[in-house]
Formats: sequence, C-alpha cells, structure tokens
Amino acid sequence: MPKEEEKQQKYEPFRTPKGVHDILPNDHEFHTFIKKVVRHRARQAGYRRISTPIFEYTELFKRSIGDSSDIVSKEMYTFEDKKGRSLTLKPEGTAGVARAFIQHGMSQMPQPVLLYYFEPHFRYDKPQKGRYRQFWQFGFEVLGESDPALDAQVIQLANKIHEDLGIDGLFDLQLNTIGTPEARKKYMQVLEDYYVGKERSLCENCKNRLTTNPLRLFDCKEEDCQILAQLAPVMKDYLDKESLEYHDELLEYLDEIGIKYVENQKLVRGLDYYSKTVFEFWDKNDGAQNAIGGGGRYDGLVELMGGQNTPAVGYAAGVERIIANMKKEKVRVPSKDEIHVFVAQLGKEAKKKCLPLIEDLREAGLKTMGALGKGSINVQLRLADKFEVSYAVLIGITEVREGTAIIRDMEKGVQETVEIEKVVDRLVKLIGEDSLDRYSPGELLYS
Ligand code: HAM
Repeated sequence: MPKEEEKQQKYEPFRTPKGVHDILPNDHEFHTFIKKVVRHRARQAGYRRISTPIFEYTELFKRSIGDSSDIVSKEMYTFEDKKGRSLTLKPEGTAGVARAFIQHGMSQMPQPVLLYYFEPHFRYDKPQKGRYRQFWQFGFEVLGESDPALDAQVIQLANKIHEDLGIDGLFDLQLNTIGTPEARKKYMQVLEDYYVGKERSLCENCKNRLTTNPLRLFDCKEEDCQILAQLAPVMKDYLDKESLEYHDELLEYLDEIGIKYVENQKLVRGLDYYSKTVFEFWDKNDGAQNAIGGGGRYDGLVELMGGQNTPAVGYAAGVERIIANMKKEKVRVPSKDEIHVFVAQLGKEAKKKCLPLIEDLREAGLKTMGALGKGSINVQLRLADKFEVSYAVLIGITEVREGTAIIRDMEKGVQETVEIEKVVDRLVKLIGEDSLDRYSPGELLYS
C-alpha cells in the first residue's frame, strides 16, 4: 500500500453486538440506587447474597427450565469449551441457585435458606424496547419450606422494593396457581383434546406448542390464538384440592397485608419448574409485554437437579425495565458523582503544592479533581465550571511564594485567600460535614 493511502486508512468504529448495551455513568447511578434498595430490603428480611457463575453446564438449564420453553429452545447462548463440554450463559438465576444449594449442602443449614442476587443474564431474545440480550436481574429465592405465608412474603418484598423505587403504581400483580405437576399433566391432556380440530386456526408456533407443552399456547400474542385460549377450559377446574386450598390461603394472607392482585387463570409462566403459585407484575398499559418481574413456587426443582425434596419459592425482576419506568416516572436518584472541589494551578512549583493538597482534601472526604495539565488558570476554571464543582482552589506563582491558596465559590463567583495549611478545614466547613464522602475501608468493604 502506498504510504499516503496507508496514512488515510480509517477503521470503522466498533459498536456493541446487537441487543447488548453499555451501562453509562448516568445509568449506573440508577443501578447503584436499585442495588442499595434491594440489598437494604433483603437484609431487613434476612436474605444473604449469592452469585452463581455466568455460565453453567447447558444441561442444568435444559432440565430445569424445560426443553420446550422459549428460553431453552430458542434463547440460550450455548457454546462448547475446548474439551467439547456444552456450556450456556445463564438465562436466569433460579437454576444456578438451586444447583448451588445442593452443591454446598445448604439443606444442612437452618431452613428456609434465604438468598438474593443482582446479576447479568443472557437471552438470545429479539431485541426491542425492554428486551435485551444481556440484561440485569435482581432476585430472591427461599428454599426449604412450603407455606403460602412464604409466597405472600416474597410478593410483599417485591412490592416493597417497587414502592421504594417509586414505580409500584405502574404495575398490577397477576396471580395464579398451576397446581402440582401431576394435576397439570391431566389438565394438559384436557387442553390437547380441546384443541383437536382447531389446529388450523393456530399460528405455526402454537401448532408446535400443542405437541410440546400446550400450556404455552396461553402465552401467544397472535389474535386467533388468544381468542381460542380465552375459550379454553379453565385450569382451576382440573387442579388438585391441596393446590387450590394452598392458593386460597395465599389470597387470605395477601388480603391481610393489603396487597392487591388480579387473579389470572391464563398466567402460566414460561419456565417449567413452577408448581402451585405463579405471579407476574404486569405493566398497566402494556400487560405481559413489559412485565417488570415474575416468580412463583418451584417445589420440585431441587430434587430434579439431584438434591433432596426441597420446596422453594422466588421472584426476579428486570433492572433495565425498572430503570426505564423510574425515568418515565421522573424518579430522581441521588447522585454521588458530584465533585466538590477542583484544584487549578499554574506552573511546576504550584503543582508540587497541589499534589499533597489534593490528597489531603480527598482524605478529608471532599471529592476533588485536580487539573494538573498545562492549561491557563482560565482554561482550568472553565473546566471546573463544566464539571459543575462547588469550589475551585487556585494556586499560582504568587500563592506559592506566599504559602496561600485562593478558594473560589464557583456559583457566587467570589473568592478568598487562605493559608495553604487551612484550605482543607475551610473547605470542609464550606461544604458541610454531612456532604462529605469519607473513606473508611472497613465500612466501605462491608457496607
Ligand atoms: P422471568 O419472568 O423469565 O423469570 O424473568 C424475570 C424478569 O426479568 C422479567 O419480568 C423481565 O423484567 C426481566 N427480563 C427477562 N428477559 C429479559 C430480557 N431479554 N431483557 C430485559 N429484561 C428481561 C425468571 O427469570 C425466574 N428465574 C424468576 C424466578 C425467581 N422464579 C422463581 N425465582
């Protein structure tokens, strides 16, 4: 290639792969806030945090979520490692938690075991508003006991978090029971019989669903399929007595704690591991399309994964969808990123004074930026303005000579000259003790 052409060659800038996104600083403020709310409410209720690996053996998800589910049949990121083992990026959190429960002998711990997570998940979904290929979920799992009061508490916790985040008014709690797997099997046969002779009205997807899992026909968005689903026999008429009584008791508890719900007999959830209680929080306008979260009871899962009989219940919510709704509701989250002080200087001798001063300011809990480049004081002040700092500290040749610094109130435009040793104390006073960000390693690491 001729030299001139070589110079001009420009690369196409890289972009993220389809369906995934960067979390930029502004959205991280939402992430941090949500994580803190979740952590706070989880701790109050005795939950402890767990993180399972980003990838697991593929079989784990196939067996738990179910071969016929959309997640397993279409949406998994599956790959082989160098030894030919099939691995999958986790599409959801419950299967990994159930695996960890068994692997770490958690059945020996006091029951129920209460765990929560805040993790990225991966689904090869069709990217659209609120639907991504990497998305974050927080979730709660309660393993080791079966009681409708536990289901009520999980729902209550989810509700509380939605309230804390200022978005509870946007969602309806949709609730159903899908009974035990045996009762459900019977009902699925009834459904299959109901659809005999109606296959031609179904979309291609639903024709398939009819043979793999007729319950999934209720999830279809096609109009003809929805009409047929509306007219289908009702699941409750075929469920076992125990599940129905369990459900009634749950409703009593929810009434008692004042949680409103919509009984939705067509709510089945898209994952196979559920039994009895299932629920979702639906957008009041978009319905299931933009559900903020969902969960339910999964009494058979731990055993299906090779553990002992361990009843369990849980919930997970989508963080991106929550953020979108918080923005829609104009919920403001506290920004911890604001800068208190900007230190500007002129010349090498001034820099020598600035470096220790910047460190002292930060140690005192003042969020401090130092412009130690070569720009003029005016250029640096304009920068301070752009960062919207409260105060600038200026050290020029005169200040170095006199052992002073100028403190400038950026909003009022007034300034004062202070002995350099007194700059930190003066700024602490000006900013106020309450606004300081003091670094205490112990507190920070364990908070
Ligand atoms: P899920 O309904 O599949 O349940 O997902 C929970 C939430 O994750 C959804 O309501 C939605 O807000 C969010 N979500 C799911 N897929 C996407 C996506 N592609 N893009 C953005 N957000 C998404 C579960 O995952 C179960 N593990 C919940 C559970 C926990 N059940 C018992 N314990």
